[in-house]
Amino acid sequence: MKVLVTGGAGYIGSHTTVELLEQGHEVVVIDNLSNSSHSVLDRIKEITGKSPSFFEFDLCDEEKVFNFFESEKNIDAIIHFAAFKAVGESVENPLKYYRNNLSSLVNILNATKNYPSLKSFVFSSSCTVYGQPDILPVTENSLVKPAESPYGYTKQVGEEILKSVSLQSNFPIISLRYFNPIGAHHSALIGELPNGIPNNLVPFITQTAIGKREILSVFGNNYNTPDGSCIRDFIHVVDLAKAHVVSIERSIKKQNKSNYEVFNIGTGVGYSVLQLINTFIETTGVKFNYKIVERRAGDVEKIYAETTLANTELGWKAELNLAQMLLSAWNWEKYLGKN
Ligand code: UD1
Repeated sequence: MKVLVTGGAGYIGSHTTVELLEQGHEVVVIDNLSNSSHSVLDRIKEITGKSPSFFEFDLCDEEKVFNFFESEKNIDAIIHFAAFKAVGESVENPLKYYRNNLSSLVNILNATKNYPSLKSFVFSSSCTVYGQPDILPVTENSLVKPAESPYGYTKQVGEEILKSVSLQSNFPIISLRYFNPIGAHHSALIGELPNGIPNNLVPFITQTAIGKREILSVFGNNYNTPDGSCIRDFIHVVDLAKAHVVSIERSIKKQNKSNYEVFNIGTGVGYSVLQLINTFIETTGVKFNYKIVERRAGDVEKIYAETTLANTELGWKAELNLAQMLLSAWNWEKYLGKN
């Protein structure tokens, strides 16, 4: 298959590009490198021995998107990752998020309306669409709650756009609702590259453990959970990447049950922030400082996935455990420290 991966130099995109290349697929990457770098593409080559074709431009540029699909023929599948993802920044600058995350999606869909070879479209959605679910684990039929942030709203609206487009499109569309992706490729050559101070838990931990940050703040220990800290469904980014490969294979084999489908992509197991910290220390043998501070606005108390639908329909299951996720994240941080 020839697969277009937008945002293919980013965190999840680069791991998915590796999985696709290793399965023998041809990959075309579009990325504006706003939150990644060209060296990621070199490292994808180092891992796989193959290079994806690379186009550097912004998907908000409608003309460039149209020209791309005019010149690049025979794409079988699109995996659309390219988007901004910092929750706090989206609250401060909502229009930046609406413009970037929504207009890029609309531009691609517009340009591929009559694109003959396209057989599959996969969208990066998020468990953020559920807000704080009333019942756990959360299923794909759980209520979509009012978004807590403009970032979350772009995922909800993105899904709605795709649902309506799927009524007319010749290709099936799948939204994957990711839980909390962490970890890095086992080669330690690619991983998450946060810009500045990390917002997310695991990059903050690894940066503190290596000495780039002084102390980790744990946001709250008075939640209604066994140890008082929030609970999340952490999933290894390589397992998540594999879910994309099986999703496009499903569409190529025409196995979709409808033209628009949604799957939760998590492990089905919830771990608390404090459990994760302890697992990191036990697994790596590296201690670091942390302190309990106030709750962070907008955080949900606990969420983890019901994954039966992905297990049965996609034939996909997360394989790597929390210790493996954290060890790979640590190896990646050490690699960054040396390079
Ligand atoms: C958030 C988004 C999610 C998005 C993901 C990746 C929401 C509600 N969630 O997930 O949609 O896909 O980021 O960008 O919009 N924590 C600390 N200290 C820290 C950092 C985090 O204690 O320094 C805690 C948080 O309070 C939370 C947990 O760790 O309980 C996970 O936080 P984080 O890694 O930021 O992910 P989410 O907020 O779950």
